[in-house]
Amino acid sequence: MTDDDVELEARLAEQESFDPPASFVDQANVTDEAIYDEFSENWPECWTRAADLLSWDSEYSTVLDDSDEPFYEWFADGDLNAAYNCVDRHVEDGNKNRVAIKWEGEHGNTRTYTYQDLYREVNEFAATLQELGVKENDVVTMYMPMIPELPIAMLACARIGAPHSVVFAGFSADALATRMNSADSEYLITADGYYRRGDALDHFQKAQEGLDNVEHDVAASVVVDRLGDDGFGHELSETQYDWDSLMDAHRGDRVAPVERNAEDMLFLMYTSGTTGEPKGVKHTTGGYLAYTAWTAQSVLDLEPGDTYWCSADIGWITGHSYIVYGPLALGTTTVMYEGTPDYPERDRLWDIIEKYAVDVFYTAPTAIRAFMKWGTEYPDSHDLSSLRLLGTVGEPINPRAWKWYYTHIGHESCPIVDTWWQTETGGMMVTTLPGIGTMKPGSAGPPSPGIDATIVDTAGEDVDAGRAGYLTVNKPWPGMLRTLYQNDERFIDEYWEEYSDPDTDEWVYFPEDGAKIDDDGYMTILGRVDDVLNVSGHRLGTMEIESAIVGVNGVAEAAVVGGDHDLKGEAVYAYVITEDGYAEDEDLRESIIKGVEDGIGPIARPEQVIFTEELPKTRSGKIMRRLLEEIANGEELGDTTTLRNPEIVDEIEAKVSGD
Ligand code: PRX
Repeated sequence: MTDDDVELEARLAEQESFDPPASFVDQANVTDEAIYDEFSENWPECWTRAADLLSWDSEYSTVLDDSDEPFYEWFADGDLNAAYNCVDRHVEDGNKNRVAIKWEGEHGNTRTYTYQDLYREVNEFAATLQELGVKENDVVTMYMPMIPELPIAMLACARIGAPHSVVFAGFSADALATRMNSADSEYLITADGYYRRGDALDHFQKAQEGLDNVEHDVAASVVVDRLGDDGFGHELSETQYDWDSLMDAHRGDRVAPVERNAEDMLFLMYTSGTTGEPKGVKHTTGGYLAYTAWTAQSVLDLEPGDTYWCSADIGWITGHSYIVYGPLALGTTTVMYEGTPDYPERDRLWDIIEKYAVDVFYTAPTAIRAFMKWGTEYPDSHDLSSLRLLGTVGEPINPRAWKWYYTHIGHESCPIVDTWWQTETGGMMVTTLPGIGTMKPGSAGPPSPGIDATIVDTAGEDVDAGRAGYLTVNKPWPGMLRTLYQNDERFIDEYWEEYSDPDTDEWVYFPEDGAKIDDDGYMTILGRVDDVLNVSGHRLGTMEIESAIVGVNGVAEAAVVGGDHDLKGEAVYAYVITEDGYAEDEDLRESIIKGVEDGIGPIARPEQVIFTEELPKTRSGKIMRRLLEEIANGEELGDTTTLRNPEIVDEIEAKVSGD
């Protein structure tokens, strides 16, 4: 580091708040603080402002129908089509030649889709889906890498009113099968493979293994040929079709967008919860699209002329809302990248930002921590002056990482939005608005306009500033999940039971996050308070990992907790009891790791597998996870007096610390 750098770091280390630069405010989409009052005074009618960003086939007459709480409906009697809103209308508005998607493959090969190109491909794939037998309301599963065919397939589904269920390509074959079974999905769109750090990966093999475990008949699968000559030569079966051949047969076909009711399902997205079964979060057409378009405009400050890049994977909600639906609804150019940030070099992301002159960049704290570790020479070797705004999502960002991002990527001239939200919320909920709010590193900011969020204690009373409590949302919002797929009961149990009072008809949404608030109403998110881990910004259930581990031969019992990790935020610690007759050896450790990779995917791979004779349990037989977490973190241990077997704690601790 130069002397200047040292001086800069010292100055920034002291600074606790930052105002958005005047150059940004001058051009921002939202700059008047009165928006907060306007939304709260006119709630719920304020949400027409979001709905007005869309084109409706028939106008809605009510904004919010709350006659059957908590099954809220938004813009309920309006009709619209999401693909029409994300594609056709931009073509009709004279913007057919504007770039919709800029795709960068891992090897540097690129593809550019104008809105006209996207219109053509979405229509042709919609015609293809119809030929395969897909009808309105059939769930179509996508298990695809980051290639343009993924958003094309999503939008083609939206065009014909078939909800999609995208399964992250890094998830295992088992995870694919579980999700297809749960959604009774008879159609799969997948790919032969993709590139990771220079290697061609065989994705079709995994998809095939998943299909083998689907309990019902799968009517058709479509396979994109991503690898060409690098492919693995798999034969397609009678119900498996090559994407290009199907598309060739439908060149020039047009399919009229289906009028969908605002409350019709747009997609399902499976996410982790406290039980072993992933939850099918249901999002609808009108509220979700209005909410993602509105937050993309007000929080990400997107405008049609922008080149915008969200480095998430479309397999997660961030990619759905802020690579595909929000930006395309606004007519922005959205960048998609297939590979990893460190291939071929650690400057790959900065190279892409420079190459496409990206205006707004949205990423995750786990990535920022890796960039910090790699050093400033990588961003410093690129011209990042096109950037106007930076964003983060997925996990808490510590002030040091925030300041690094602000200085070395934003060069002190881009505001940062630290956006708290979830798969279930559909879009951003707690964040500063970049043209208005003072930023405080480490704190996401106030609830967005129209979002009534508070931080309460276990009794539901507001906590004082500075005290830790639980984040709750007291009023519905358009982007919210409507239910868990075919499981209304679990929907109520998981999100509403804790703080609602059905007697007084007060319904409160509980996201299962701990948080605190300061005197200015800024919220700092402290992390999940349920058994959900956040590993590199990826949401994983401890129960899912445990059930993968106990499925391994030789394992009797397992407890999984999260331990602090410099880069990943949290890492998976697995405490395992072996069955009698099985050695606690390297072979078993490897089988356990493989069991987790096969059951969920490599992202859930345990950082450490700790064999133990027993797990610390209370007298009533409950595993004391808190102690296991403290051990993983090398923290001083709390009270062990309620344990049935306190002696085991020292033994486990010695194993983890290596003493
Ligand atoms: O714990 C919160 C954390 O991520 C969880 C939601 O995960 P998922 O549904 O996978 O969606 C991630 C992308 C929206 C939340 O319950 N989280 C998300 N954003 C933040 C965050 N924690 C702290 N700060 C954030 N900005």
